[in-house]
Amino acid sequence: MTPYIKKEVLLKASNVSLCYGDKCILRDINFTIRDIVRPGLQQGQVVSLIGRSGIGKTQLFRVLSGLQKPTGGDITIHERKPAEVGGGIEVWRERPVQPGDMGVIFQNYYQFGWRTVRQSLLLAARKNPALADKEADAIREYAVRFDIAEVLDYYPAQLSGGQQQRVNIIQQLLKGSDFLLLDEPFSGLDICVLEKVTELLLQVSLSDELKTLIIVSHDIATAAAISDTVFILGRAAGAAGSTLVREIDLIERGLAWRNDLRDDRGFRDTLAEIKDCL
Ligand SMILES: Nc1ncnc2c1ncn2[C@@H]1O[C@H](COP(=O)(O)OP(=O)(O)OP(=O)(O)O)[C@@H](O)[C@H]1O
Ligand SMILES: [Mg+2]
Repeated sequence: MTPYIKKEVLLKASNVSLCYGDKCILRDINFTIRDIVRPGLQQGQVVSLIGRSGIGKTQLFRVLSGLQKPTGGDITIHERKPAEVGGGIEVWRERPVQPGDMGVIFQNYYQFGWRTVRQSLLLAARKNPALADKEADAIREYAVRFDIAEVLDYYPAQLSGGQQQRVNIIQQLLKGSDFLLLDEPFSGLDICVLEKVTELLLQVSLSDELKTLIIVSHDIATAAAISDTVFILGRAAGAAGSTLVREIDLIERGLAWRNDLRDDRGFRDTLAEIKDCL
C-alpha cells in the first residue's frame, strides 16, 4: 500500500445537531478530517458525503460552511500559521468556522444575472491575494481547462446547466480557500465533461497539502473514485434526525489515489456496501 500518514486535524465536527422547531434534521454528528501526508508527494484530502435524497446532506453542507449555525455542537477548522510567524515552529490554531472560510459550490446555484462570467470570475480572483495582478491569466487558464473559454463574455442566462456548474467551481477555486465544499458537483454534466471535472478536482486536491474537498453527491461511484474517505449520512430506526452511520477509509482498503478503480472488485464491493447503508 502507498505509504501515508494522517497528521494534524484540519476540520472537526463535534456533536453537531440541527433542528427546525420540533423537527430534527441532524443529530450527534462527529468526525474529523486530517491532513494526509504522503512522502515525496503533495497530497490533499477528498471526502465524500453520501446519503439518500432528503437525508440532510445540504443542511450539513450549510453547517460545515459556517452559513448555518447548528442548534448544538460546533465545527472548527485548524489553520497552520507560517513557520516564520511562529518563530520557526509550525503553529496550528483551532477556531470555529466562519462564513467565507470555505469555497462553497451550492446545488443548483445561479450566478448574478447582470454580470458576465468574466466579471464574476474577476471578482472572485480579486479576493485571492496570491493572484494579485495575475487575475486575468488565472481566469483564462481555468476557462481553457474547464472548457468554458468561449462563454467568458456571456451572461448566466446564456449558459447551459453544465457550463454554469463549471463557472461556479472555477469561481471558488479562484478564491483560493483551503476548503472547498461541493454540493452535487457532477449533476448535469455529460460523460466527457464529467471526466474532465473529476480529473480537475483531483488536480485541485493535489495542488496543496492542505487543500480539502468535501463533496456531497448522489453519484456514489464518481465521488468515491476520487475520495480518500466516505462518510455516510443515514437514519437509525426510531431516532429523530440523521447522523453519520459509517465512515469508510478508502486508503486503508487500497482504494484511494488510483485511476483503475472502476474495474476493481474491491471497489465494486465497497460501492455495494455504501448502497446497503443508504
Ligand atoms: N428551513 C427548513 N425547515 C424545516 N425543514 C427543512 C428546512 N430546510 C430543509 N429542511 C428539511 O431538511 C431535510 C434535509 O434536507 P436536505 O436539503 O439537507 O436534503 P439532501 O440530503 O440534501 O437531499 P437531496 O439529495 O435531495 O439534495 C428535508 O427533510 C427538508 O425538508
Ligand atoms: Mg441536497
